[in-house]
Amino acid sequence: MNPHTETADIARLKALPKAEVHLHLEGCFEAGVIRQWAKLEGLALPRPEEDLFKFSGLADFLGFLDLACGLASTQERMFELSYGLSQRLAASGTGYADVIFNPTHWHAWHGRLGAMLEAIDAGFLAAEQDGLPSVGLCVSLLRTQSADAAIALVETLTSMRHPRVVALSVDGNEATAGRTGPRFAEAFRRAGAAGLRRTVHAGESSGPEGVWDAVELLGADRIDHGVRAIEDAALVDLLAERQIPLGICPTSNLVLGVYPSIQEHPIERLRIAGVPVSLNTDDPALLGASLVGEYSLCRRTFGWTDDITQAVARTSIEASFADAHVKAKLLTSLGSW
Ligand code: ADE
Ligand code: ZN
Repeated sequence: MNPHTETADIARLKALPKAEVHLHLEGCFEAGVIRQWAKLEGLALPRPEEDLFKFSGLADFLGFLDLACGLASTQERMFELSYGLSQRLAASGTGYADVIFNPTHWHAWHGRLGAMLEAIDAGFLAAEQDGLPSVGLCVSLLRTQSADAAIALVETLTSMRHPRVVALSVDGNEATAGRTGPRFAEAFRRAGAAGLRRTVHAGESSGPEGVWDAVELLGADRIDHGVRAIEDAALVDLLAERQIPLGICPTSNLVLGVYPSIQEHPIERLRIAGVPVSLNTDDPALLGASLVGEYSLCRRTFGWTDDITQAVARTSIEASFADAHVKAKLLTSLGSW
């Protein structure tokens, strides 16, 4: 594609009505913000600024999240992050996002979940009032937490009933945590019974077995990543048959070493097999991803037509936990893209 055509395509992709369903608040720190806040806190950065976002893999990356989130110690900083995330959504023409937020990374707020939710909510609310896209929060467990801690989080969430919170999530590193589906089954059961939706990171740092557990033990409405399901034909058939959507993040998978090249990424094979796939950025600022960039990458690599692009955008909207009104509005405008 020549540079002119590519610029025109990016503009069309920005105008494509779509949702994002796999995006972490923890992944929305700009390098300049980290530098500025670290300086104010008198904290040395672990490496030179030009190498700050160079990660050797998922474990290194998750450790970095603790450092970055640890700097967000005030209400004002949480506001700046959540408002900034909404601006990022608008820059890609995203109409709605489910945003994952994992309290374990934010050390300054431990033991104050209510205050933390209010601080995040204030940024999203101000953004919505300024005409920026609306956001639902998926509050996340970390894979290494205990069953008791998971149940305690769900009990707190269900007693708070914060209107911003739409789902329970679990993220983190399955390769180091090992099999944890059975450990979290009760917490996810209670979340579902209390009316929360359920989204599960699996099939990124785990193989197909993690995706099986997400479906069979955790009652996942949606899988975050899920790409390694491709290694098990029976699982691919199940995801297609039950229409369980995968929130796929190609650039994240390349940067964190899940696949060596985009040509080897399984999104196209999953899509052709009938699995509902959406495109997402995971941790956009830290991994150098943008939502229009993800669509553009797949169109260039896999030759996606406008019809296929539109179908993937439709999946993103239908798979989201947005309310029926927001979904209907986005689907109507998608029809006339
Ligand atoms: N938390 C933030 N990004 C993540 C990822 N890609 N996998 C697991 N946990 C995460
Ligand atoms: Zn993720």
